[in-house]
Amino acid sequence: RKSVVRITTGSQALDELLGGGIETLCITEAFGEFRSGKTQLAHTLCVSTQLPIHMHGGNGKVAYIDTEGTFRPERIVPIAERFGMDANAVLDNIIYARAYTYEHQYNLLLGLAAKMAEEPFRLLIVDSVIALFRVDFSGRGELAERQQKLAQMLSRLTKIAEEFNVAVYITNQVIADPGGGMFISDPKKPAGGHVLAHAATIRLMLRKGKGEQRVCKIFDAPNLPEGEHVFQVTSGGIMD
Ligand code: GTP
Ligand code: MG
Repeated sequence: RKSVVRITTGSQALDELLGGGIETLCITEAFGEFRSGKTQLAHTLCVSTQLPIHMHGGNGKVAYIDTEGTFRPERIVPIAERFGMDANAVLDNIIYARAYTYEHQYNLLLGLAAKMAEEPFRLLIVDSVIALFRVDFSGRGELAERQQKLAQMLSRLTKIAEEFNVAVYITNQVIADPGGGMFISDPKKPAGGHVLAHAATIRLMLRKGKGEQRVCKIFDAPNLPEGEHVFQVTSGGIMD
């Protein structure tokens, strides 16, 4: 039986919101407008996952699937330094792959699973999980097929999380909510419909605040406390 590992986000406020950090054995999703900090959180997790357990890390390697070409290895350096880690060693433990189509994205997951069977991984990032689906199935009549393929991808992610005791962190985009009427101040919702809503155990809604400030809310979890948690995006990564 595998026991859950919680990996720090770099922000105590965010960690508290999550009950200690990003959890292994399940999928955590972050969605929000551009520059809301989804990718910066991914970069911070790349480092914090490699911290020892007693420092709220996962003592494991990281797999990073990048569909938008926004991973920046040079951003890892100051984040590693902030945590007192050797940047080159940290970079060596991040297995990076750029995906160009949804099929490519799926095949990369199959290859990673084989790697995870041999080496101790603790985090799998897919940034963004849905971007390629929205490109590859852009036609009106393709939505049903897109959702079916997306469900397949997400079930693969869940399987990896459970089989290798890995935390899966995925980012998602927001779309205009056609149901949003004149009384709804921010008519945006996460893409991916009920398929994504069902697969993600924890859904984080991020938005911009003043300057480096960002605001995080747990989305659509009636049994969790309401409230917004503020964190900062800095050169050392996510912090309070
Ligand atoms: P999209 O992928 O475009 O949807 O956005 P995102 O939510 O992934 O945004 P991302 O995580 O890339 O956040 C970008 C924000 O982080 C921008 O406001 C940048 O200014 C900020 N940022 C990136 N690097 C640094 C840095 O080294 N120092 C500081 N202070 N901010 C940074
Ligand atoms: Mg991004």
